[in-house]
Order: sequence, then C-alpha cells, then structure tokens
Amino acid sequence: MAAPDSTSSMPRLAPPVNSPMAGKNFTWGVATASYQIEGAIHADGRLPSIWDTFSAIPGRVLNGDTGEFACDHYHRWQSDVDLMASLGVDAYRLSTAWPRVMDEHGKPNAKGLDFYKRLFDRLEAKGIERFVTLYHWDLPQHLEDRGGWLNRDTAYRFADYADLMSREFKGQVKAWCTLNEPWCSAYLGYGNGHHAPGRTDPRFATQAMHHLLLGHGLALQALEANDPTALRGLVANIGRGTTDRDTPADREAARLYELQHNDWVLGPLLKREYPKDLFKLWPGTEPLVLPGDMDTIGGKLDFLGINYYFHLNLRSDGKHGFVDVPLEGVERTQMGWEVHPQGLQDLLVDFKARYPNLPPIYITENGMASDDKVVNGTVDDAQRISFLNRHFAAISGAMDKGVDVRGYFVWSLIDNYEWSYGYERRFGIVHVDYATQQRTLKQSAKSLTEFLKARAAS
Ligand code: FCB
Repeated sequence: MAAPDSTSSMPRLAPPVNSPMAGKNFTWGVATASYQIEGAIHADGRLPSIWDTFSAIPGRVLNGDTGEFACDHYHRWQSDVDLMASLGVDAYRLSTAWPRVMDEHGKPNAKGLDFYKRLFDRLEAKGIERFVTLYHWDLPQHLEDRGGWLNRDTAYRFADYADLMSREFKGQVKAWCTLNEPWCSAYLGYGNGHHAPGRTDPRFATQAMHHLLLGHGLALQALEANDPTALRGLVANIGRGTTDRDTPADREAARLYELQHNDWVLGPLLKREYPKDLFKLWPGTEPLVLPGDMDTIGGKLDFLGINYYFHLNLRSDGKHGFVDVPLEGVERTQMGWEVHPQGLQDLLVDFKARYPNLPPIYITENGMASDDKVVNGTVDDAQRISFLNRHFAAISGAMDKGVDVRGYFVWSLIDNYEWSYGYERRFGIVHVDYATQQRTLKQSAKSLTEFLKARAAS
C-alpha cells in the first residue's frame, strides 16, 4: 500500500510546533475596516466622511481610486461572513463607520445601526467573535468642517458615538477597540498630509493626537459604563527602527524614530505623559493639555492591539532628527516595506521591559501586499505564506520571553481599498476582482483554513 502523501503541494501556514499560538485559547482572526471594504457611501443615510472628500481630490490617491464601491461589503456581508466561517477563524476584527450610525446632530441612524446589527448577529450565529473598532479613520466630514481632531469638541463627540454603540450592542462585542492607529490619524492626517484630511503642520499633528487620545479616554468611560463585560482597548501601529551605522548620533536617530512612532502613543496611555524628547524633535509643538486630561487618557486598558508591518533603517539627519535610509538587498513587499519579523519580537519584548503595566496584547493587524493574480482559479501567494509564518515565529518567540499575546488577526480578510494606494495594493488572503466582486481564496487562505481545522480537531 502506498504511504500517504505527506508532501502536499500546499505550503504550510502555521505557528511553530508547540507554540502557545497553536493552543485553543489563542484567538485567530482576520481584520478589515469599514471604509476599505463597505462601499455604498450614499446608502441608508450615511453621511460623507473625510475619506470621501480626500479621495475625490485629484492626486491624493493612486489612480484616483475612492471607497465608493470598494468590496461592496455593504451588500455582500452575508456571503463575506460565510466566507470567514469557511476559513474557521475564531474572530473578526471590523470597524463600524461613524458616518453611518449618527447624524449631524448626534442622533442615531437606525438604518446604519441595523446594518451592523444584522452583521453581528450572523457572525454570532457562525460562532465568530466580534472585535469592533470604533474609529478606523472615517471621521464624519461635518466634524472635520468644524476643525476635526484639532477641535477638542471632536473628542466629546467621539465619546457620544462610543456611548451610542455600546448601548446598542451591549453583550454582542467581545472587544471594543476605540481608535485604530492614532499615530496615522494624527501624523499622516494632520502632520504630513498623506492621509485625510490632508493637513500639514507638526503642531496640528500633536494637537490632533491629544484630542484623539482624549476621545479614546472618554470613550473608555462610556464603554465601561454601558458594556462592562466587553474588553476595552486601543490599536496602535508600531514601527521598528535601527541603524546600520554604529555611531552615537545614528543610534540616537533610531531611538528617536521609535519614540516618535511608538512612545508618542504608548507614553500617554501607559505612563500618562508624552515623551519629553518628542518636543526636542518638534520644538514648540506641545499640545494644549487641560488638567485631568492625562488621567482620562491613561484609563485602564484590558488589552493593547498592535499592528506591525515593517522596519526602517535610520541615520542622523546631522541635526536633532532622523532620516530613513532604505537598506539595499533586503526583502520587500508590494508596498516597498522591508520585511523584518524580528522587529516585532524585539518591540514586544522592549515594551514589556519599559512599560510595567503593559496590558495583554492582541496582534490586531499584520500581513503584506503583493501583486496577486488569479491564474487558473488559483492565487499563488507564497511570499505571504512565508511572511506570515516568520511573523508567527517572531510572536511565539516574544511569548517565550514572557510577553502575554492573546490573539492574532491577519490583515486582511480580502483585498481592499488601501487608502492613498487605492486598489493596487493587495493585502487580502482572499483575492477580489473589483469588476465582478468575485472572491477567490489565495493559497494563504487555504493553508490558514487547514491549520485552523487541524487545530480544532486536535
Ligand atoms: C494599517 C491600517 C490598515 C491597512 C494596513 C495595511 O496602517 O490600519 O487599515 O491599511 O495598514
């Protein structure tokens, strides 16, 4: 009798053998965000968001792409949930669109809320836990018209929105994430203008950050009051920066990069203070902080969501700052981002050492873009499988070193609207043909399914 074929052509996607990530208590999920997948921007009373405005300005987004149709998830949510269920994931991290669920006067929009209610119900029926991000960058345009995150009032309006959502969906959400990547909202949105609303002044960036974090702290209070048994946290993007030059100035440059990228957010959340050196980098940009703000911002987190994508090589700019000097001959993704799994492990271990009250971690995003094509019904994304495996190993290594990681979400379930890169960058483990809205499982999705099925059967 022939021996069973152990050399399946499918590359294996799995954490290392004996990794705690393979255990049944570890949460495996996929992630998306409202503006990137929903489309239907005019449906059922949805108001314009800053991304509708920004993407309509010529030159802001590659190929002039907008989120008008995206993955049409607003109409295809049932089959998208079924797709997720077929993968066997434990959890889904999605975001709700603020402009869908509230009008200009803060009144609930029943039709928008109903969309999420039906979605959550179906996820629940399929046994998929809901990790819900309240703000994944789609600020209602009417709030931007009143100053957006530069206006302190926006923080209070955000708390009203968190209040509405946690009353409405009490008991249906495993984990609330207040903000996604406040660094991107503040710095890319108000500092260098690469993201909506496209404003450009470091003073705006620090003030916007302060109001975002204040909004987060106020939202935590509303979530706790209305839905006390759900987990509460924030999702931060973190960046690893090192230098290829062994001089004190270059090492300092790398330190400042990480400080600006990571500690600008983690400092206020976990130590109730902004890192002092931030304002050496950007003199004169201290935000207006009112008494009590830092205590609000530093409210208890049940978890910290971590999004990790890449490493940068930094050198001193000859003054007090840093410059990014891309390394030659390293592996990169379709985004041009340097693949560097070890950086994730190093940062997690470093945070644990420097922030004694670091809460449990969920890796809420990790993944890569590649120029994936469907050939004879198959999408061979071998680089993604290798990328993910190496990041699983890095996370496992951090867990071995004592970091409490509870779950992992692949970015993303499906190819989607990659902000200023539009539809050209494909991050999904499921391919989307935007002309037909056909979904095709990539090899990565198939091998994730195999892993999750084997885990469930073990
Ligand atoms: C993160 C965003 C997410 C996605 C990935 C690639 O910064 O949170 O929406 O665009 O990058």
